[in-house]
Amino acid sequence: VQAEKGGYDSFMQKEIYEQPQAVRDTMGARIDQENKRVVLPELKMSDEELAAYDRIYIVACGTSMHAGLVGKEVIEKWTRVPVEVAVASEFRYRDPIYTDKTLMIVISQSGETADTLAALREAKKSGVKVLAITNVVGSSVAREADDVIFTWAGPEVAVASTKAYTSQVVALYLFALYFAQVKGTMAAAEIANVVEHLQQIPAKISTILDNAEPIRRFAESIKDATSLFFIGRGLDYAVSLEGSLKLKEISYIHSEAYAAGELKHGTLALIEDNVPVVALATQPDIYEKMVSNIVEVKARGARVLGFAVEGDRELAKTVDDVIHMPATLPMLTPILTVIPLQLLAYYASVARGLDVDKPRNLAKSVTVE
Ligand code: G6P
Repeated sequence: VQAEKGGYDSFMQKEIYEQPQAVRDTMGARIDQENKRVVLPELKMSDEELAAYDRIYIVACGTSMHAGLVGKEVIEKWTRVPVEVAVASEFRYRDPIYTDKTLMIVISQSGETADTLAALREAKKSGVKVLAITNVVGSSVAREADDVIFTWAGPEVAVASTKAYTSQVVALYLFALYFAQVKGTMAAAEIANVVEHLQQIPAKISTILDNAEPIRRFAESIKDATSLFFIGRGLDYAVSLEGSLKLKEISYIHSEAYAAGELKHGTLALIEDNVPVVALATQPDIYEKMVSNIVEVKARGARVLGFAVEGDRELAKTVDDVIHMPATLPMLTPILTVIPLQLLAYYASVARGLDVDKPRNLAKSVTVE
């Protein structure tokens, strides 16, 4: 087993460091280098059929559902098609509103999650086409879906998902861009710009991974905390949910992710002296609003670690510590911001002397309901 970890202390650490490659492989041949467009030759449905969809459900569990939340934002932004994200255990017992122009996307690393599979089967029974995003060739989800986009993350062993998430997010960007191409909702130059920025993502992930020390120090400082809050708005909120899940899964520290604007409707009551807060402020449109929320938690005594984009000199004035992300398009930040959050969970688990790869009570793949 030690050899399989390839010199890393745990599978999770290895998988975190494999992300530049996982992301590169998932983009791979799906980017037409010459024309700076996306190609998805694996799709069986025709471009006409795809272009006709005017409503999407994304259904998944756990971390895969969190990737779906990022997918929703980008698909809506780039195609103006409404997307609803649902957890599979809820969705399978609902009475969803399908039309003949509804597409369902299921996301599953393993392709074997019982609730996700059940939701897929229910949709197919209702005559809805299902596109799967999965990491396992030959899995039940891959076999039963009408169409599949594989993530090429390679085997993921640690219970807490890392490289599968970033690969799913990449697959969703590619799908959203392709969908925009066939619908004609984005100009070619705009698509080319996103594609170029996507291609720079693996190198930027490497930069973050090479500068993990401040995150390790912060993780040490929160190892005895009883509670931690993640706050953000928009895409930063979607990533906060994933950061919070990672932390609770493997460090057992209670944490909550909150849409920052919603804090004053309840959670602010829990902020007191020295409560750690991780505040994500990477989205330019809502940056000022986010800073106001940080000021609110600071005023109640919170100790705040802020996430800002490279070049931001403002946030440092408001927070206790700041981590700078390499700059990219605002829509692409989730794939970078999640990396230090994964590292935070990892180092917190290590600092507490826990089994990083096999957290108590949890399984890698939940194949029973
Ligand atoms: C379990 C795993 C998670 C994973 C979730 C969904 O809870 O511990 O890491 O996100 O299942 O799994 P899937 O294979 O469907 O993505």
